[in-house]
Amino acid sequence: MRQNLILLGPPGAGKGTQAKMLVDKYAIPQISTGDILREAVKSGTPLGIEANSHMSRGALVPDEVVIGIVKERLKRGDCGKGYILDGFPRTIAQADALFSYLNECGCPITEVIDIKVPKDHLVIRLSGRRVCRSCGAGYHIEFNPSKDGGRCDRCGGELFQRDDDREDVVIKRFETYEAQTTPLSEYYKKKGQLTTISGIGDVEAIFDDICKIVDER
Ligand code: AP5
Ligand code: MG
Ligand code: ZN
Repeated sequence: MRQNLILLGPPGAGKGTQAKMLVDKYAIPQISTGDILREAVKSGTPLGIEANSHMSRGALVPDEVVIGIVKERLKRGDCGKGYILDGFPRTIAQADALFSYLNECGCPITEVIDIKVPKDHLVIRLSGRRVCRSCGAGYHIEFNPSKDGGRCDRCGGELFQRDDDREDVVIKRFETYEAQTTPLSEYYKKKGQLTTISGIGDVEAIFDDICKIVDER
């Protein structure tokens, strides 16, 4: 069955962690707008330069830019059996644009999972997060450390800390999330597509919860 999934949740909720596991289980791609934008920033493209001016201060990249990126990405052949949207939509305007686009092609969102984690946990998660520069695998210095601290277990790549995981930017990202993204829970609840889960506890247990929801829908 086709799975068009959305993972909602605040910065550090575990969207990326869970999305990567869902990729393996359902053989559908993860579409992380954050990852796409960070790649553009790294390459120094005009998109990257514009995106960085917003990302570096914890603000959202303008809707029209992100909507354009996602529409292009959804056209690619690997989305034929579905996909996992991680970090998109993040505003009502993005959700409306996605709705219209999917309506036109007759393949609506099948499930929206809202991952709830209290702020004190999120702060600890973000400050300890490390990411592999080569393969993008995620680690945490305390909860999921790599075997040799500075290198990725999977590929040996260097682990680094995201620029926007600095404390001052994290505070801004939470404010942005509260103001612009929390209304999406109500938006998808009204459509009967939302399931809320706790994102606290064992990563595998949370993954099982998500799979149950996806399989039962
Ligand atoms: P984005 O990259 O999407 O960042 P985010 O939403 O802030 O979310 P994160 O990636 O920080 O957290 P996550 O939920 O993926 O958590 P993770 O699994 O890594 O966006 C970045 C920026 O790009 C935005 O600020 C904005 O500027 C721009 N942008 C992106 N999309 C946009 C859009 N649609 N519109 C406009 N602008 C956009 O986990 C975090 C840590 O916790 C890791 O270390 C992990 O190992 C650990 N962890 C995970 N699960 C657990 C667990 N159960 N227990 C303990 N630790 C755990
Ligand atoms: Mg992420
Ligand atoms: Zn790696």
